[in-house]
Amino acid sequence: MKAKSYYINTYGCQMNVHESEKMGGILSDRGFIQADSIEEANIIIYNTCCVRNTAETKVFGHLGRAKKLKELNKDIKIILCGCMSQQEGEAQNIIKKYPFIDIIIGTHNIMMLGDYLDKTKFIEVWKEAKIDREIDIKPRRERSVNAWINIMYGCNNFCSYCIVPFVRGRERSRGANEILDEIKNVLDNGYNEITLLGQNVNSYKYEDIDFKSLLEKIRDIKGKFRLKFLSSHPKDLSLDVIKIISETDNFSKNIHLPIQAGSDRILLLMNRGYMIKDYLNKVDIMKKFMPDLGLSTDIMVGFPSETEEEFLDTMNLINQVKFDNIFSFIYNRRSGTVADKMSGQISREIKIDRIQRLIKKQNEIGGQKAKECVDKKFEVLVEFQKGNKCIGKTDNGKPVSFESEDNVFNKFVDIKIIETKNTGLIGKPI
Ligand code: SAM
Ligand code: SF4
Ligand code: F3S
Repeated sequence: MKAKSYYINTYGCQMNVHESEKMGGILSDRGFIQADSIEEANIIIYNTCCVRNTAETKVFGHLGRAKKLKELNKDIKIILCGCMSQQEGEAQNIIKKYPFIDIIIGTHNIMMLGDYLDKTKFIEVWKEAKIDREIDIKPRRERSVNAWINIMYGCNNFCSYCIVPFVRGRERSRGANEILDEIKNVLDNGYNEITLLGQNVNSYKYEDIDFKSLLEKIRDIKGKFRLKFLSSHPKDLSLDVIKIISETDNFSKNIHLPIQAGSDRILLLMNRGYMIKDYLNKVDIMKKFMPDLGLSTDIMVGFPSETEEEFLDTMNLINQVKFDNIFSFIYNRRSGTVADKMSGQISREIKIDRIQRLIKKQNEIGGQKAKECVDKKFEVLVEFQKGNKCIGKTDNGKPVSFESEDNVFNKFVDIKIIETKNTGLIGKPI
């Protein structure tokens, strides 16, 4: 008999990517194998995101495929989970519109997936998290270079535009020993990169261990590896944390520090808890301690009441800081958030115009920054190799492509940058 198989469609952030790995772990433990394509699967999962409506539209667009497959074989299980279904009342709306879905669960009860598999027309969305169950799951990791590891869940910040605190609950930190054991375990299993996950890793706190002391414990782990974390909040990134990163070879010098906007008035309306001068001060400190810092950020355009001048403040800011990479977003209204009720919502045309100008400017900056890397040497961890074509990342997060006759996948290779292509780096092994 053919083994039972599953296929997971994942939307949204790394948190969701890793949660799909955890669901993969639950299903593997029950004897399921991963299907190569959605058509071959007995269980089809949609692990959803609702941070912007583009993420939601994608899921609804893809559900048509599941409907067709269900019509051909009624024994297929269609499961929808994640942030979209965690929104108040949303699971009921979804099942009404898409009655072929068998199971809907939220973000707080994915660990129960195995117990729900036999159910149909089943909705269970827990209002709150139960941390002790969240950490029990052993993921089935999809990548072989980088391992995601949760250090905390949820968010307490309530940025006025953001749905995440509503669908992920309040901050809960994992025990330091469990985190350290998981790190040692993935390193023993050949992973060379670890990314610690949390919506605001800087507010990690378990008993008397804060983020700095967690990093100190990770620093003491023997052997060579690369440690990254996502995301840092500018209001909580401390000097102690900057120092320990700068002093530790195994800690990546690529920091992702979302600024969101270049105007103090907009930052205040966003409830971000810092001002531009505070952010710039932290960037100066980071650059002082880490001259080779690679800095990336998130920026949102078209927040309610953002004027052209305030948008130009954001443009000036990116020109001043010269980020290596920017993840730029058009502000989306999210029901239930404070910003959704603000006056001065910006038209779609203006938002599109602003994001296009922002991307164009950043491409110029990225191109200049790439050129500055020519003739420099970097240690690159190789994430992809097909034949002699290789792609990897430098310690400060820059993607580099190069050729190698040797098998260098998942290895650290010393590379000299010889040329650039737009914002990308091309190098050769030294
Ligand atoms: N916790 C992280 C932080 O504060 O940096 C960010 C997590 S959020 C999933 C990733 C990014 O999505 C945010 O930094 C923000 O730029 C963007 N985002 C969040 N809500 C949004 C909204 N309503 N519209 C557009 N972009 C949004
Ligand atoms: Fe959303 Fe702000 Fe929390 Fe990040 S810190 S997840 S942007 S509320
Ligand atoms: Fe992530 Fe989207 Fe949820 S960004 S936390 S999957 S709303």
